[in-house]
Amino acid sequence: MNVPKAVEPGPPWDYAELVREYARGGGGAIDLGTGGGEFVESLRDHLPPRTAATEEWHVNAPIAYGRLSALDVDLVWCRSLHLPFQHETFDLVIDKHEELDPWEVARVLRPGGKVLTQQVGPNNWVELQRFFGAATPGNRGDSRVADFGDIRGDYALGFAEAGLVVTRNEEHDYRVAYEDLGLLVFMLLITPWTIPDFDVERDIEALLALEAECSTDDGLVMTWSRFLLAAEKPA
Ligand SMILES: C[S@@+](CC[C@H](N)C(=O)[O-])C[C@H]1O[C@@H](n2cnc3c(N)ncnc32)[C@H](O)[C@@H]1O
Repeated sequence: MNVPKAVEPGPPWDYAELVREYARGGGGAIDLGTGGGEFVESLRDHLPPRTAATEEWHVNAPIAYGRLSALDVDLVWCRSLHLPFQHETFDLVIDKHEELDPWEVARVLRPGGKVLTQQVGPNNWVELQRFFGAATPGNRGDSRVADFGDIRGDYALGFAEAGLVVTRNEEHDYRVAYEDLGLLVFMLLITPWTIPDFDVERDIEALLALEAECSTDDGLVMTWSRFLLAAEKPA
């Protein structure tokens, strides 16, 4: 699948590189909401021998299981918000673009353990707001684009309240170019939580209006928003 190309500088951090750094010397690690397990597979040599991953979605769980068990990574089919592990089991919790519960993370971390997470920020695809109207209760103003609130603030506060020390808390927005409207539509279809009632046929006018306004020589330019949080459990 073609990924959009950045037309502005991306985040001043490299999540994969940070995971390698945080995993050094650790006893046990876990990746929350691992999807098909591709990210853990790409970093397996840098992760501790005792590494696990969680996955909730029935489509991805078997895929992740197949991919990760071959790498001696235990795949646990569960929600990231309810971790079926003992207290103080891991030295490292990693999480890329998956929900988490700061208290659950703190509970499964050993003293001295760390959590590192990169998440999608509030301004991601902000351009959608202008084109997807028609009120749906609970969403920003009259947009149909889901509003997840201040996740970064909630997670940082939650980590602190759970006794962790937040060591990194950064957010970065930058613009990327999709090669065409088709790729953006594909992304909207595989992330059904973005516009929960999205329908290509019903929304074709909105899509064409977005294409007309956001198209440049680079392609269809949209905002990507990412944030990074890291925290440590006092030893
Ligand atoms: C956005 S994905 C991130 C996965 C992985 N951590 C990564 O960074 O590639 C977060 C979670 O959403 C799940 N997911 C992806 N597409 C989904 C869909 N269409 N319906 C339900 N869950 C989905 C994934 O399986 C994963 O558990």
